[in-house]
Amino acid sequence: MDVGCVRLPAGRQGERTGVRFRFIEVSMKKIAPSILSADFSRLGEEVRAVEEAGADVIHVDVMDGHFVPNITIGPLVVEGLKKLTSLPLDVHLMIEKPERYIEPFAQAGSAWLTFHAEVCSRLRSVIKKVRQLNVRPGVVLNPSTPLKALYPILEEIGLVLLMSVNPGFSGQSFIPATLKKIERLRKIIDQNRYPLEIEVDGGIKVENIGEVSRAGGDIFVLGTGIFKTKDYKETISQLRQIIAPHPTLSPVGRGKG
Ligand code: DX5
Ligand code: ZN
Repeated sequence: MDVGCVRLPAGRQGERTGVRFRFIEVSMKKIAPSILSADFSRLGEEVRAVEEAGADVIHVDVMDGHFVPNITIGPLVVEGLKKLTSLPLDVHLMIEKPERYIEPFAQAGSAWLTFHAEVCSRLRSVIKKVRQLNVRPGVVLNPSTPLKALYPILEEIGLVLLMSVNPGFSGQSFIPATLKKIERLRKIIDQNRYPLEIEVDGGIKVENIGEVSRAGGDIFVLGTGIFKTKDYKETISQLRQIIAPHPTLSPVGRGKG
């Protein structure tokens, strides 16, 4: 949910700007179960179960067998999922030339569409196209892609997805170097007051979500870390307790959606 904001007066240090307070938002951090680890023979039940368990968004991994060595699902499945859940569908495109598929995935009911900087030479125009379709755009970086790939478009996006495993499969181990990358991006966001959320994807579990959250992550994608646990509700409430002490602060009124 993109709701759950509390407005507080002033910036982090409580400064005044002229006679008016500058406002900041304390946003809820979000838990995004990745259906890649769900039981696909009971996909509907699985999605409803994580919704009831308290998930904020449903993460949908789209793979083309070219950009990554795995093939998963297309717009048809997104359309089916849309009918099953009222949660936003966070569609992660791990495909070459993502611009070719923006429209079908938007029409299928994606709320967010994220695409990889490594395979998108026209980031700015794809961001614009996604937004024109009333979908929230986000740019994804692989573990080995430096943050500087984002610099030209940081002011234009509201969502960055940092991969903490090499994309393609669920169940891999979190790459520890991601923590520094998150910290560096968090610093840039805070210094420039960009209204930007950091999503982190791969190898996150109850055991390490605290570090990812402390480093500055806002949205946490978990496949195995939720779907391979016994009690989704119990797992999600544990995750929430761990991340609760680190709220996200961001400026209000410059939302990029
Ligand atoms: C990997 C996908 C992830 C994956 C996460 O390419 O983008 O979303 O499903 O799964 P876990 O949490 O098991 O690493
Ligand atoms: Zn993903």
